[in-house]
Amino acid sequence: MCGIVGYVGNRPALNVILDGLRRLEYRGYDSAGVAVLDGRGGLAVERKAGQLRNLEARLDELDVPFEGTAGMGHTRWATHGGPTDRNAHPHRDGTGKVAVVHNGIIENFAPLRAELEAAGVELTSDTDTEAAAHLVARAYADGPTAGDLAASVRAVCRRLHGAFTLLFTHAEHPDMIVAARRSSPLVVGLGEGETFLASDVAAFIEHTRDAVELGQDQVVTIRRDGYDVTDLDGNPAEAKPFRVTWDLAAAEKGGHDYFMLKEIEEQPTAVANTLRGHLTDRRIVLDEQRLADGDLRDVDKVFVVACGTAYHSGLLAKYAIEHWTRLPVEVELASEFRYRDPVLDRQTLVVAISQSGETMDTLEAVRHAKEQKARVLAICNTNGAQIPRESDAVLYTHAGPEIGVAATKTFTSQIAANYLVGLALAQARGTKYPDEVAREFAELEAMPDAMAAALDGVEAARELARDLAPSRAVLFLGRHVGFPVALEGALKLKELAYMHAEAFAAGELKHGPIALIEDGLPVVVVMPSPKGRAVLHAKLLSNIQEITARGARTVVIAEEGDETIRPFAHHLLEVPAVPTLLQPLVSTVPLQVLAAEIARARGYDVDKPRNLAKSVTVE
Ligand code: M6R
Repeated sequence: MCGIVGYVGNRPALNVILDGLRRLEYRGYDSAGVAVLDGRGGLAVERKAGQLRNLEARLDELDVPFEGTAGMGHTRWATHGGPTDRNAHPHRDGTGKVAVVHNGIIENFAPLRAELEAAGVELTSDTDTEAAAHLVARAYADGPTAGDLAASVRAVCRRLHGAFTLLFTHAEHPDMIVAARRSSPLVVGLGEGETFLASDVAAFIEHTRDAVELGQDQVVTIRRDGYDVTDLDGNPAEAKPFRVTWDLAAAEKGGHDYFMLKEIEEQPTAVANTLRGHLTDRRIVLDEQRLADGDLRDVDKVFVVACGTAYHSGLLAKYAIEHWTRLPVEVELASEFRYRDPVLDRQTLVVAISQSGETMDTLEAVRHAKEQKARVLAICNTNGAQIPRESDAVLYTHAGPEIGVAATKTFTSQIAANYLVGLALAQARGTKYPDEVAREFAELEAMPDAMAAALDGVEAARELARDLAPSRAVLFLGRHVGFPVALEGALKLKELAYMHAEAFAAGELKHGPIALIEDGLPVVVVMPSPKGRAVLHAKLLSNIQEITARGARTVVIAEEGDETIRPFAHHLLEVPAVPTLLQPLVSTVPLQVLAAEIARARGYDVDKPRNLAKSVTVE
């Protein structure tokens, strides 16, 4: 939810930190701040509300040189306390010697603040974070942890409830940063004579690909020449080293105005990467499979839990898994799942879908499922994130870094991954022969080419976007697998263009929503194939006529060669003909482009929609 960077090395820290923050801004952009240790006992801090560029402008105006080769930075998505200068991180203690940056929520902040206030400490922000700076300063000043920054941090973290990544600096320790994590991401980057800390490797990928993933409730101290890790009690602890497989180019815009536009174009490659290596000898192989074959065979019910776009991909999983395995599948918003006491046991498979692998709602759903003894399989795009760590098995989408806040290539990759799970279940349960599994897989493998063809045809969506930009609202209709696509199209339009956008299952139209149709209202209709789904096609054709008769302006996504639709579409966006279950992989593409281009035409920042952040690490 917030982005965090720490650096101890030989280069001017400020530049390294600002570059890192720029790559983490997708995590939040309500405010930004830096703290640099000057090596002479000074700790310079500057913070500013708004995007990172506001902080950079402020730093340019200052004559105070932010000299020093160690420091940290933060880019914020506000939870406790509005997005103002005074609530921006880093926060300091009263002496100004200790600084902290934080990602997550300290749930017991209220009693901690009350305790500090009772002790005469003046709090200068409305955040849950500031208390941590004062508490560490006090633990460092006096008592059993006096003079030991790491021990002080451990002692304070033992008292904290909630989720946190916390980085602390102390002016008296210009060559080190102490950090702690619980249910919130933190990785260490190991360079030559320099060490990094970050919420995401993207922050330091330009300098090193050697990284270490911190475990739950671990505390790390970084110095120029390395790091050490302990648990919260100070016992040495193991952290997992890994090498980042993608490079800086993957985290750059590659000539596009926005990351999102680049990521839309990357979809054929992303889906190909998701599928790569998963079929061996006509058998589906998942990644880290800590489930025995027998576990999958014994599954008698599947729950899919996810949020936002990932939830829409989950809705599609239901069509494939039920069709291929005859297992009942329930798809549930992760934020609702554990609060309604779902019926789970050892034979339940819970599929948790999350691009980031750190969405708190989904993580809590996973924890709930595990408590009830269900098996959990994660579908995730981020290696080693918390959700796959806590799951029994994981299938990584390998879509590469997605920086635009709006999910695009990870959505289509999740669809492909869901289908792999469906095929793995079908093979384990024997509802598909190996030949059939291989045939379905081959159809999936043909999809990157079909998606590339869909991308070749998006000019019509771009042109239409300029036309639709002044609209107040847009409705979306779909049926069968076209319904989740309609939901996803509406979500993209809401989050990027701030337009009222709502999707309906087309069959529901006559049960109420048709009352919304008025003269000129744009309605996007996702058509099924006239051959693959002739009955539904005919029904949607009738729906189109019903809304046209009431003044709607129809934008129809239809299969190439579907001539029957032409007379009824005010605007036609064609996509390649593909098998029914795979249609969402192509029909989503023009909807993503439409939303991005409408947002652009309305003058909005496509990569950083207001009020949002890429990873939602709070419930
Ligand atoms: O990282 P996750 O896949 O768990 O994120 C879930 C949602 O927050 C995410 O899909 C969100 O809805 C996107 N901004 C939509 O574009």
